[in-house]
Amino acid sequence: MKTILVTGVYGFIGSNFIYHILKNQDFSIIGLDCLSYAGNIENLLGLNEIEKERFTPIVGDITDATLVSKIFSDYPITGVINFAAETHVDRSIHDPGAFVKTNVYGTYVLLEEAKRCWYKNDKWEEGVKFLQVSTDEVYGSLGPTGLFSENTPLDPHSPYSATKAGADHLVKAYHDTYGMPVSITRCSNNYGPYQFPEKLIPLILRNALDHKPLPVYGDGLQVRDWLYVMDHCNAICCVFEKGLSGEVYNIGGNNEMENIRIVKIIIRILNEMTADPEINESLITYVTDRPGHDRRYAIDARKIHNALGWKPETKFEDGIRMTIQWYLNNKDWMKRIISGQYREWIEKNYEKR
Ligand code: NAD
Ligand code: TYD
Repeated sequence: MKTILVTGVYGFIGSNFIYHILKNQDFSIIGLDCLSYAGNIENLLGLNEIEKERFTPIVGDITDATLVSKIFSDYPITGVINFAAETHVDRSIHDPGAFVKTNVYGTYVLLEEAKRCWYKNDKWEEGVKFLQVSTDEVYGSLGPTGLFSENTPLDPHSPYSATKAGADHLVKAYHDTYGMPVSITRCSNNYGPYQFPEKLIPLILRNALDHKPLPVYGDGLQVRDWLYVMDHCNAICCVFEKGLSGEVYNIGGNNEMENIRIVKIIIRILNEMTADPEINESLITYVTDRPGHDRRYAIDARKIHNALGWKPETKFEDGIRMTIQWYLNNKDWMKRIISGQYREWIEKNYEKR
């Protein structure tokens, strides 16, 4: 059985990915996560006993070279999938340093330790692979037309996207300079269960349920391409298994939407599901725009489709209903995150073990 190191496993996409991969693939997973504010240990409490046998969680930081080196010597790791990152654009505007540290330096530490372990006697071990999970935001912003392809030059605007672009360049450099087997995926905006309520969709859901204002930045006409998180997880498995070394694969939902439209869809579905008349469009509040706000992202995902056979399977209307239903079924999860109760839970149940 292959053993792979997956980082960021208690975050939004990382935890969905762990459920997905343990269910669908016969890997043994070492899960590394430092439990930053965005990492929630509760996210993986739903693993069953058989899945837990193939999952070894380690609480630690990807920037800690001693720890990462120990992990590589303690376990027969032949693959790395790097989700761990600081991910919120608005936070990156206020504290870019944390983003440089984790996203750039942390990726360097993982690359370096993987190289140390996998490159012996001038040869790379057979079957090893480093997969960097990146974002369409590295390409910058589009006008009203056009799509990002894998050949679009990187032109990041926020400290978040700049550090993700820096990491992408490093990963590519390890391939070009040392011949490391790598793949890079660049995905559009994800939505689904377990997303931290600082991002647009869960933030709007949370505020609407509390009858609080729904903040829409600027004119609300910025466009994002939205993909259901499980489709992203599936695409990553596909690239990890079949992606060619040194290649970048764009991943997108072919589902461009203006932010204001998303907000109105959430209001409509929530109103219908809760029958709460106070959840209505009067909650929408236009607020000061994000500095350097990218206007439009849109993905050309033909490469992954044609070369690896992946395509998105979840229609937005279905995915958003499943997501809203999940948040309605898991109101306590949201409450605990916001109140910080889940941190107390970590102290009681984890740190003192
Ligand atoms: P998230 O913020 O929900 O989770 C990040 C996880 O990484 C958390 O569990 C956190 O504890 C962990 N982490 C942070 N710093 C760490 C460190 N120094 N060491 C170890 N663990 C650390 O993020 P997400 O939305 O799940 O995104 C996961 C990855 O996917 C990121 O690399 C992000 O750039 C990329 N991505 C996200 C989206 C999206 O829409 N969310 C789209 C494309 C790409
Ligand atoms: P976000 O979920 O932060 O993802 P990203 O910036 O990585 O695309 O934001 C998605 C879009 O929603 C983005 O254009 C900013 C906008 N937005 C709002 O209008 N209001 C909000 O409160 C938030 C968090 C985001």
